Amino acid sequence: KPIVLSGCQPSGQLTIGNYIGALRQWVDMQTTHDCLYMLVDLHSITVRQDPKALYEVCLDGLALYLACGIDPQKSTIFMQSHVPEHAQLGWIMNCYTQMGELNRMTQFKDKSARNVTNINAGLFTYPTLMAADILAYQADQVPVGDDQKQHLELTRDIAARFNNTHGKTFTVPEPYIPEFGARIMSLQEPTKKMSKSDDNANNFIGLLEDPKKVAKKIKRAMTDSDEKARIYFDPKEKPGVSNLLTILSSVTGSSINDLVPQYEDKMYGHLKGDVADAVVALLEPLQTRFSALRNDRAELDRIMKIGADKASERASVTLDKVYKAVGFIPKP
Ligand code: TYM
Repeated sequence: KPIVLSGCQPSGQLTIGNYIGALRQWVDMQTTHDCLYMLVDLHSITVRQDPKALYEVCLDGLALYLACGIDPQKSTIFMQSHVPEHAQLGWIMNCYTQMGELNRMTQFKDKSARNVTNINAGLFTYPTLMAADILAYQADQVPVGDDQKQHLELTRDIAARFNNTHGKTFTVPEPYIPEFGARIMSLQEPTKKMSKSDDNANNFIGLLEDPKKVAKKIKRAMTDSDEKARIYFDPKEKPGVSNLLTILSSVTGSSINDLVPQYEDKMYGHLKGDVADAVVALLEPLQTRFSALRNDRAELDRIMKIGADKASERASVTLDKVYKAVGFIPKP
């Protein structure tokens, strides 16, 4: 089976963007692929986190993975910080990556422009740790949203460069980006990405938010003001409406082409009502499953432990290979 690895940052509650762009694909791939899914706590501290909140958000993230249908019987689920090989391989990746390459990363440029008081070295080398995450498992495919494409390209470059220098060591991974839903947009500002770290909570739909509040947010979403309030899919001309159609299509499984004709003579309010109903129908059972899992700490611990042991065993094989390739003496 092809190997799959992916992760989310526990830097706030996961959103419907994370679900549609990534988690949904992770669930589907479990039957056909050998999957590893983690919460990237090491990455999350590139932005200052409150320690108590981070602790809770990590447990939330784990319970949410499970509630979404990630199955510990099928997949390896773990916390990044429980597998020391990530940081170890991350160091090596740093030494095979140029400053200029990291300087070109749009996520670094955005994040450092937004938070000028904490442009730390971890934020800059974020992509090399991400490369280590992926290459440690010799992953073939990495299911992510559109915003991670550039990081994936860099990972491929680093892997190919290392292979050229030291002989074939790493599998060069492919990104797996869905055709629709790879970039869910903000509700109030539909020309920017929906993000869990957005200051304005009206911009995102949290997977753990009260469904009534979610429905309200959707009904207040920004739609587009052209002369006729027509409903059609055109992300450039109609970003707000197109975003709602994308969410509806992703959540219900109907294609956008099937959905659009149903709104021919309808108004924005109809569409919003339908999106709200569909999202609530997704969230309610998900949150019920979440609550049961989140309250069973012993079970979460058991899953984390098994996952970390399995992941570490696999990652250490790659790390040994890499240490040998660069010329380190194996520990006698
Ligand atoms: P993160 O935590 O920002 O997002 C997790 C996943 O959700 C996708 N995503 C979206 N998809 C569609 N629409 C959106 N609005 C949206 N927002 C987020 C992201 O593309 C991502 O797939 N760097 C990664 C975490 C990471 C990782 C890795 C991923 C660390 N190591 C190794 C894959 C492999 C990140 O910050 O994701």
